[in-house]
Amino acid sequence: MNGTNENKTVHSPIRENRSRLRVMRVLGVLVCVTAVLLLALTISGQNSEIKASGEAVAASSSTPDSSSSAESSSAAQTEISKQAAADSTPQEQTATQTQVTAKAAAKEASSEIAPKVEVKNGITYVGGILIANKTYSLPSDYDPGLDSDAEAAFYTMQQAAAADGISLWICSGYRSYSYQKQLYDNYAAQDGKDEADRYSARPGHSEHQTGLAIDVNEPSSDFDNTPEAEWLAKHCNDYGFILRYKPGKESSTGYMAESWHIRYLGDAELCKKIEASGKSLEEYLGITSAYAQ
Ligand code: DAL
Ligand code: ZN
Repeated sequence: MNGTNENKTVHSPIRENRSRLRVMRVLGVLVCVTAVLLLALTISGQNSEIKASGEAVAASSSTPDSSSSAESSSAAQTEISKQAAADSTPQEQTATQTQVTAKAAAKEASSEIAPKVEVKNGITYVGGILIANKTYSLPSDYDPGLDSDAEAAFYTMQQAAAADGISLWICSGYRSYSYQKQLYDNYAAQDGKDEADRYSARPGHSEHQTGLAIDVNEPSSDFDNTPEAEWLAKHCNDYGFILRYKPGKESSTGYMAESWHIRYLGDAELCKKIEASGKSLEEYLGITSAYAQ
């Protein structure tokens, strides 16, 4: 009986319930899968947005007109330069340095301005330095005596020399116009004007009349190459003096070499600069020393 009944389509309530449960299970699974898929899509979308906004921030921070980006860009350039420098050969580095040095020298040379020439009360100043030579003369009544700063600097130098066992003294300091005239006239009478002009200034043209020049120890070639002359040449810049008439400079200074004649400029650094240049004062200032007739 039961077997026969089994082959018949019977709409029993239990079977219907089971079918409904199956359908609901399938639907539940589908809903869950859909939910999971939607969640996955949402998370993926958010990540893309975050990534995109992150890129936008990065892009805005590298905008050229941003100051911080300029710094970071500059820092980056420095890093690149450092790397390039590290990668370059010593010869390449030297070539680069040479180019930089040459550019700096060219810039300095182009900015060089000829010293200003000023005449006050008949006295000529070139770049602020009082000049008395064959081109530039002094009034006959210019009578300042030995400059007190020059004198003090000499005595300070004298003490330093003494500490080194060197004895220095003033042989001739300030000379008046009239005293220079006597000296020059005597030399001219003795050796002739042309020869006298090589070692003695005409009145009004001597640096001794400025009160800023000093002859040390002995005004003759016997002083040349003595320990005193060598000490003076080596140290006088430190006290604001320059050796005024050096060997090989007669064409610019107008005078034969005098190892004993120092000129006070008062600025040790300037003295050292002139010394280092290898130029006479005339060459350094770009001026002449020649009589008009
Ligand atoms: N001996 C120097 C040049 C002078 O007479 O002033
Ligand atoms: Zn002198």
